[in-house]
Amino acid sequence: MSTGPIVRVLTDPAAVFTAAAMEFLERARTAIQGSGQFTVALSGGSTPRSLYSLLATQSDVPWDKIRFFFSDERHVRPDSPDSNFRMVNESLFSRAPIPQENIFRVPAEIPDADLAAQSYEQTLRQFFHLGDEKEDDALPRFDLILLGLGPDGHTASLFPGTAALHEDERLVAANWVEQFKTWRITFTYRVLNNAAAVLFLATGAEKQEALLQVLQGNPDPETYPAQGIKPTNGNLIWLVDQAAAGPMK
Ligand code: 6PG
Repeated sequence: MSTGPIVRVLTDPAAVFTAAAMEFLERARTAIQGSGQFTVALSGGSTPRSLYSLLATQSDVPWDKIRFFFSDERHVRPDSPDSNFRMVNESLFSRAPIPQENIFRVPAEIPDADLAAQSYEQTLRQFFHLGDEKEDDALPRFDLILLGLGPDGHTASLFPGTAALHEDERLVAANWVEQFKTWRITFTYRVLNNAAAVLFLATGAEKQEALLQVLQGNPDPETYPAQGIKPTNGNLIWLVDQAAAGPMK
């Protein structure tokens, strides 16, 4: 059973990242107490870089029990300036004692984006002990999935009007994004909405319109894909700054 979104408006980006770090660490400690590990899927883009840098400075974090995945990835090599993995590696993985075996990056260097998506889906199925697609419609359940919000209302790599919005079988999909003329690899709604908790971070005035539409607009996930994030049995939390919240009550 899920309640509606919890929306916290904080004064500025620094306050958003501090609150996000506390949420991350609190959920990690609770998950590790319960199951011995914390499974988290990280968002990309630019907003969360400061959160990852802040987490890297924290002491007594049980890094060895935290398993890192990615909610989406660009179809680029891991050393590309566009790579979400590279951004997290620079801001967190290279700055905290995180065992390499705890990092599950998307093999986005595979030339065929669909093969890359299939490979990452197999990684999820193996990690979460799921059977293959035909025999097992069970879903991975992440303790926490971090997401961002694009000014156009996209989240992960679920962009307006794209095919992956309607993917109801795969866990991970290759998604052609016409506006960028590029492939992306992304979790589908099936995985995103099965998380125990989804935490959105949105800062800056450029997110104001999208945030208002997603949280208070008419239901239209084809146009505002972030509206489609409704955990079936989990928490949905938005941490936004005043610039992004604008006049929203
Ligand atoms: C990506 C992200 C994407 C991001 C939004 C917001 O791969 O770019 O997963 O969904 O969260 O585009 O990006 P910014 O944080 O850069 O505004």
